[in-house]
Amino acid sequence: MVQVEVYTTTNKKLGDISVSENVKVIDIKKEIAKISKLSVERQSVRSEAKGKDIKDDSTIENLGSTRKVFVKDLGPQIGWNTVFLLEYAGPFVIYVLVAYRPWLLYGAEAQGTELSTTAKIALGCWSIHYLKRIFETLFIHRFSHGTMPIRNLFKNCGYYWGFCLYVAYHVNHPLFTAPLLLQQIIGLAIFAVCEVGNLSTHILLRNLRPAGTTVRKIPVPDNFPLTKLFDLVSCPNYTYELGAWIGFTIMTSCLPAALFTLAGFYQMAVWALGKHKNYRKEFPNYPKQRKAIVPFIL
Ligand SMILES: NC(=O)c1ccc[n+]([C@@H]2O[C@H](COP(=O)([O-])OP(=O)(O)OC[C@H]3O[C@@H](n4cnc5c(N)ncnc54)[C@H](OP(=O)(O)O)[C@@H]3O)[C@@H](O)[C@H]2O)c1
Repeated sequence: MVQVEVYTTTNKKLGDISVSENVKVIDIKKEIAKISKLSVERQSVRSEAKGKDIKDDSTIENLGSTRKVFVKDLGPQIGWNTVFLLEYAGPFVIYVLVAYRPWLLYGAEAQGTELSTTAKIALGCWSIHYLKRIFETLFIHRFSHGTMPIRNLFKNCGYYWGFCLYVAYHVNHPLFTAPLLLQQIIGLAIFAVCEVGNLSTHILLRNLRPAGTTVRKIPVPDNFPLTKLFDLVSCPNYTYELGAWIGFTIMTSCLPAALFTLAGFYQMAVWALGKHKNYRKEFPNYPKQRKAIVPFIL
């Protein structure tokens, strides 16, 4: 056993803990929880004050000689499932409300106006998308982290709910003008294929990880044709998500939907580049031809 000093990342001493030399970070966190007010989920453990977070199932190099660890308080946490359910239930409820109670946004004269066929199809697409996400959160994803900082909840809900209101306002507007039928059909087809592609990617990722573990593997296509995109990019789920919103934008010809697509693309591209870099660092045999999110380009 070694005696280890625990410091905050601002170099304030929290106390001492006793652990074995090759102890995993998760067990260090449990010891820190006993000498501080920080629950295991609130802690990010590092070997240097300005160092990187070390994963729960890793060990800390040279712990026996340095005998010091640093812990950062991640703030109050909230369960992933709760976050995702709130993030995704919001856009579903808001969009349906705007479509079926138009007077809420457009005033009394909108009462009784019929939604255009395109707006009805867009409502179907939007609802399926978010109901699918709720379903995936409950029954498909096997997340490695149980919680995330509560402040992310406000940021994420603001993003999803705000854009939903913006898009729903325009597509369900009594003066909404639908584009050409052929354009709508093309947009709807792209949306549908990409939704199935996104789901198939999530199922493949689920099957990579045995239940109750945080195992990570190199994803490779399975028998379902749409998973072949894994040969070209590290995050096909993001590529398909992007494709689905491009399809929705084509179908509705709606500028707010295009802006939502662009914002989503930016966020997902940042994440995909990070995940891609991690894959290459973690797996020396990672396929070289893969890009992060856009085949052959990014
Ligand atoms: N419109 C938008 O702005 C937007 C933005 C972001 C996401 N989304 C949607 O939300 C979906 C989920 O997003 P996400 O960021 O959670 O996706 P993600 O990071 O790709 O993860 C999906 C699930 O797969 C697991 N996973 C990923 N790579 C793995 C590997 N190599 N081995 C084993 N398991 C692995 C993840 O576990 P971990 O918990 O370990 O990561 C997570 O449970 C996206 O696919 C997209 O459809 C939309």
